Amino acid sequence: MQRPAESRPIQSPAESRQPPAASPVIEVRGLEVSFPSPSERTGERVLKAADDVSFALRPGEVLGLVGESGCGKSVTALSLLGLVPPPGRITGGSAVFEGADLLALPESTLQGIRGARISMIFQEPMTALNPVFTIGEQVAEVLRAHRRMDRARAWRGAVEALARVGIADAATRARAYPHEISGGMRQRAMIAMALACGPDVLIADEPTTALDVIVQAQIVDLLLEVQSATGLAVLFISHDLGVISEVADRVMVMYAGRLVEEAPAEALFSGPLHPYTRGLIDTLPGGAPGDATRRRLPAIPGTVPDLRALPQGCRFAERCPLAEDACRAAEPPLQEGADGRRVACFMAGPSFKAEP
Ligand SMILES: Nc1ncnc2c1ncn2[C@@H]1O[C@H](COP(=O)(O)OP(=O)(O)O)[C@@H](O)[C@H]1O
Ligand SMILES: [Mg+2]
Repeated sequence: MQRPAESRPIQSPAESRQPPAASPVIEVRGLEVSFPSPSERTGERVLKAADDVSFALRPGEVLGLVGESGCGKSVTALSLLGLVPPPGRITGGSAVFEGADLLALPESTLQGIRGARISMIFQEPMTALNPVFTIGEQVAEVLRAHRRMDRARAWRGAVEALARVGIADAATRARAYPHEISGGMRQRAMIAMALACGPDVLIADEPTTALDVIVQAQIVDLLLEVQSATGLAVLFISHDLGVISEVADRVMVMYAGRLVEEAPAEALFSGPLHPYTRGLIDTLPGGAPGDATRRRLPAIPGTVPDLRALPQGCRFAERCPLAEDACRAAEPPLQEGADGRRVACFMAGPSFKAEP
């Protein structure tokens, strides 16, 4: 667990903490999620919302996943729980959790994992919470379903779970319906629901995006507290690199369906290897976390390519200040360096690193 960016000592990539040696909680390999999407112009029949996505979530870490809206963060997360919205479907890859491939498990088995071993929280708790039940009933229901608790015990457990996420006077608040409480409170209730069974993994998909800045900070603090108290592994998804910089131990950057960079957080912020990561960091208010010069550069020019009409070569080439002919000829593979970092860029070399 890192401290928030302001107080975190910035280390050079070489000095940054080595990844823990423990084997992954979830290991994703070659994940591919496709949506039927006929395009007359290109003749393409499907688009790959996630394309050859591979990563490992390690025990006790907060792994950040960042990228612009539509780049495939949510479908990547949803695929782990069998929740890809139709007509989307998983068309390739594996995601091993405790020796079983989550992508291949039958729905009945997934139901036992979802919300108990691997929990997910979303941007808008209103859509995840049921409007016709009180928040206490909904947390209790999770305990009844997965822990087979009787009504009275499940209710007590629900009140405890709500109190643990900082809901004051939880015994009374438990009787409130979702629409009767604030957005921040609903997000706390959803976190209580997600954590009620003591999961090994929490997937947090833009958990603070719909909240105002103050509440956003409170929810981030809560998630960090919960994480350090329980040691669960968190996949934290956000389009906002600023939020990611406050929570993540390690960061993966996604662009147009693909991972383009992965590195320990300090290394990523102090020395991004991919020009897209560099661009994202430069758009952060105040510049890179810990950057003494606090530059403020304009947003990355251009737009994300249409997933149905991807350019040949690197997907980022048309927006990239470093792109050369080679970048437009072939797609750079995501390559792992000796330092354990990964980057998909032909230009990501010492010259790029030397001139951030
Ligand atoms: N329900 C859907 N129907 C059709 N296409 C979808 C749907 N959901 C996602 N997609 C496609 O998948 C891509 C990735 O979506 P998503 O994972 O939600 O992006 P992110 O979470 O990064 O904003 C989108 O750009 C879109 O092309
Ligand atoms: Mg999303």
